[in-house]
Amino acid sequence: MSYFLYHSIGTFAGKEAAVTRAVSDFTCHWCAEDDGQWPDAMTRRGAFIASWQRLIGAPAGSLTLAESVTGALYALMRGLPEQRLAGGVVLVAQDCFPSLHFLLAELARRIGFTLRTVAPPQGRAYVSDDDFLAAWGQDVRLALITWVTSTASHMADLDRLLDHGRRMGTLVGVDITQGVGIRPYAARADFTVGSSLKWLCGVPGAGVLQVMPDLLAECQPEFRGWFSQANPFSWDLDGFAFAPDARRFDNGTPNVLPAIASQPGLDHVLQTGVAVLGAHNRHLTGLLAQGAADLGLSLASPAEADRRGGSLMLHLPGNAAAVVDELRRRGIYTDARGSVLRLSPGSVTTADQCHDLLGALKQLAA
Ligand SMILES: Cc1ncc(COP(=O)(O)O)c(C=O)c1O
Repeated sequence: MSYFLYHSIGTFAGKEAAVTRAVSDFTCHWCAEDDGQWPDAMTRRGAFIASWQRLIGAPAGSLTLAESVTGALYALMRGLPEQRLAGGVVLVAQDCFPSLHFLLAELARRIGFTLRTVAPPQGRAYVSDDDFLAAWGQDVRLALITWVTSTASHMADLDRLLDHGRRMGTLVGVDITQGVGIRPYAARADFTVGSSLKWLCGVPGAGVLQVMPDLLAECQPEFRGWFSQANPFSWDLDGFAFAPDARRFDNGTPNVLPAIASQPGLDHVLQTGVAVLGAHNRHLTGLLAQGAADLGLSLASPAEADRRGGSLMLHLPGNAAAVVDELRRRGIYTDARGSVLRLSPGSVTTADQCHDLLGALKQLAA
């Protein structure tokens, strides 16, 4: 088995046993006939939040869970004072994750902002920082940056973009889903959304929303409930009060299982270190890039390694789906979007497996 699917679902040696242990430990407490279930569940959820905060250097109390990245963006956008956005422009690139664009297009209609979508030039699979900046004027109230794209693994220069955003007076959010856990990220945008599913090796349902304290204090989330309060047991119908921290983005009874089952992946990344995981990945994507060049296959990803996240995307001349099927038959797991083959080697992937994949591509695609 050769695994190249970290852009979809991340994994690590011993994942099955570690996730089984985490879930079964939770089960023991949850099923005990005592009153310790919720304290135990909330402690585990708190550990997950603390791990994420540590991983991205976020201030304490600035991060909470969301069901998905789309859900996290929704919670934030519907928490902002409407006048922040109404009548202005929200900027996004065409190679953002489509689900976020689906959401923004509907919010544009409801809130009354213009959604400006930056397209890449003909023949390039990603929107460059220059393309994005050219569309980013003082009329942009909010910009959503995809740090690493899912279709080309283009990695945006966040320092440059955030600096520009500050000069334009724009609120800036970053989707870190495809980069977190494989490239270093330090929270410094107004808000960050992400998922635990990819390089963090978690399970579905463990998205996160991180909001800087100044912006957080302004937010009055529409989707609120008893757990949006500092004290969920404050049940005075006329006395609702938002929690002072990121808990204000919570709503009803917290969904704890995705956090619990994702904790082993987070522990793996924190214990191994993003620098170590990133170095292994850079070595393997370097081998794949060189091998692709030798085979005459062109990159959909940027050619410069420091402009890429953890994946390498290749244009295939023929039927990419058929190549993916044949690779699977040989025990090599990849996927394709249109004619683009997506390759994401992680901690369980070896250099020998990269050479085997290139050997197979020589027969099937070159
Ligand atoms: C860049 C990016 N953002 C977000 C997501 C997932 O969003 P959601 O959790 O809303 O499905 C993905 C999934 O592949 C992604 O690649």
